[in-house]
Amino acid sequence: MNSTGVEDLEPVATLTSEGAAAELARLAQILSQANEAYHTNDAPDLSDAAYDALKRRNGEIEARFPDLVREDSPSKQVGAKPADGFGKVKHAVRMLSLGNAFDDDDVVEFEARIRKYLNWPEGQPLWFTAEPKIDGLSLSLRYVNGDLVQAATRGDGETGEDVTPNARTIEDVPHRIEGAPPILEVRGEVYMRHEDFEALNIRQEAAGNKPFANPRNAAAGSLRQLDASITRQRPLRFFAYAWGEVSEPLADTQYGAIERLASFGFSTNPLTRKCENTSALIAHYQNIEAQRATLGYDIDGVVYKVDALELQRRLGFRSTTPRWAVAHKFSAELAWTRLDKIEIQVGRTGALSPVARLEPVTVGGVVVSNATLHNEDYIEGRDSKGAPIREGRDIREGDWVQVYRAGDVIPKIADVDLSKRPPESAPYAFPTVCPRCGSDAIREEGDAVRRCSGGIICPAQSVEKLKHFVARGAFDIEGLGAKQIEMFSADDQLPIKEPADIFTLAARDAENLAKLENRDGFGKQSVKKLFEAIEDKREIEFNRLLFALGIRHVGESGATLVAQHFGTWDAFAEAMSAAKIGDGPEWDGLLDVDGIGAVMATSLITTMQQEAERASIDRLVAQLTVLDAVKPDVGSSPVAGKTVVFTGTLEKMTRAEAKARAEALGAKVAGSVSAKTDLLVAGPGAGSKAKKAADLGIETLDEDGWLALIGDA
Ligand code: IVH
Repeated sequence: MNSTGVEDLEPVATLTSEGAAAELARLAQILSQANEAYHTNDAPDLSDAAYDALKRRNGEIEARFPDLVREDSPSKQVGAKPADGFGKVKHAVRMLSLGNAFDDDDVVEFEARIRKYLNWPEGQPLWFTAEPKIDGLSLSLRYVNGDLVQAATRGDGETGEDVTPNARTIEDVPHRIEGAPPILEVRGEVYMRHEDFEALNIRQEAAGNKPFANPRNAAAGSLRQLDASITRQRPLRFFAYAWGEVSEPLADTQYGAIERLASFGFSTNPLTRKCENTSALIAHYQNIEAQRATLGYDIDGVVYKVDALELQRRLGFRSTTPRWAVAHKFSAELAWTRLDKIEIQVGRTGALSPVARLEPVTVGGVVVSNATLHNEDYIEGRDSKGAPIREGRDIREGDWVQVYRAGDVIPKIADVDLSKRPPESAPYAFPTVCPRCGSDAIREEGDAVRRCSGGIICPAQSVEKLKHFVARGAFDIEGLGAKQIEMFSADDQLPIKEPADIFTLAARDAENLAKLENRDGFGKQSVKKLFEAIEDKREIEFNRLLFALGIRHVGESGATLVAQHFGTWDAFAEAMSAAKIGDGPEWDGLLDVDGIGAVMATSLITTMQQEAERASIDRLVAQLTVLDAVKPDVGSSPVAGKTVVFTGTLEKMTRAEAKARAEALGAKVAGSVSAKTDLLVAGPGAGSKAKKAADLGIETLDEDGWLALIGDA
């Protein structure tokens, strides 16, 4: 999803009239595009929180500059136009959207506005209903004399898509109802339960289709199928919560009307309550929020509606939202859920990484079922310096935890609710032996991480090493990625236990071919192609080979520096055998290279002198032709010696390419902007780094500017 840089925007209060007009035009464009992506294509490009923030900003600017409100203003629109391909249905009563409340103050204000509008006396109770806001898509079902005759999506609120055959496949949608008014349009939300969503995605992936990002997209993509037989295979559900045209009123109150819908056979939400005032609404909001993770379906807030239908009628509507209802949203990027289990993953360098297995919960539009727990100190409630985090609260299996996502990164645990800790729980005992190979897991002084000491005898380490070996930037063998490595490693009949085995696979015997051909995704042709792709990489640059070995602390740039320092693989290998950690000509030579420090040098020497590792590397090199490293001619390069940072999306090259090219020209590539940065190359979507560079007065170029500078344009 896009980042909108919402946090970097100029405050509305200081906008000039020109600035406001430009900003409104920009917001109209972004929000219309986001609407289209969300409603028509079922593929959101903004997070809900970013969408809400931008829409709120649009409203605030319009409130300050009412003369500048545009014809195509996002505040005048509901959803998006119906997609081509479906019949169109003009709604007898418009399908509207809801205004939002983001905090308790907004709710207090909502009630105050209503009281004022109705001139409702202070002391007189004003009843509301409060119910979960289901995160799905709305559907209107038209019944004539009890028979379902038409089903339509919301579309743009005026006209929706005719999805009648599809709606008939939903179990919760009755085809016939008894005791209802002759004309009745029932409205509600189509959604998918978490367990059904997960099973559907497994089937999608097994059939080679793209999995859905979240249950809402899955529900929308399933309902809006031109072929209803596909919808039938998708486990959709429906909650009724409102109505459109009715030939006679269902009841006097919202609550009574919902009870009647239930009496016709519709599913209505069991968490719907009547509340007497704002504090009761907020209490029920908290109650629903606390149950959010265990409901089994996504909700993104709580909807409050004035209960008396006569008052709803008096209050009426603004352009796209009723005055008598509001959606009190949950904060999008945080959610509470149960931590079922702590599992340990063993990485390429032997690091034991604890992972929290969670009861699935939606955080910022994505279903999260795993979160990183970093290391044993983090679980115990301490940071790397021993200072308390979460006020020292530890994390245990069975705990009720708060999960968050910052941007698109891996989910993390923000907090633990000790009041919900199961009484029988015990502190987590971090393993001191590797769970995969049983070797001692050692934590060295000053290291936050405990590592398996098994080296290549540890199957977890060797698989992760192999995955790294074939990755982009390393050997990058077409048709041999992480998935295939997993498959080969799980299968004793097709042994690839170490990198050298990849290059002997074809030669070992023709039998491999026969064995391979019977695997998923491997036909005769693809086996042939795979062997060709492997042959293609038998000749490899020294720096790529060194990076591919996955030696701790030796990244792509480190490998390039080492390769350039030694020139040939043989010179490097010989020097590493002779080297001593801490002194001697080899050690000093390495440390003289700008960019190579004691940590990297120690890691290189240790690995190259470790008997089993070295034997494995030698077996690999015997299979290869290693190309000598070429020292770059950086003297004439305009970026030689400069520190460059790349940020945002690069469109003409990958990040890895950009970095390699810059380094080949003698530049140093850094990950973050500081006073030492000479140049920032910022693509679209650049956020805080661009701002920081601007604040520090650092020269900033776009991608084309950069290519022109280095003569690649
Ligand atoms: S009432 C006139 N109740 O939220 C207002 N809407 O953001 C009719 N939604 O378009 C809507 N749960 O798709 C209502 N319990 C609920 C809801 C709900 C989900 C959706 C609905 C609506 C959107 C507005």
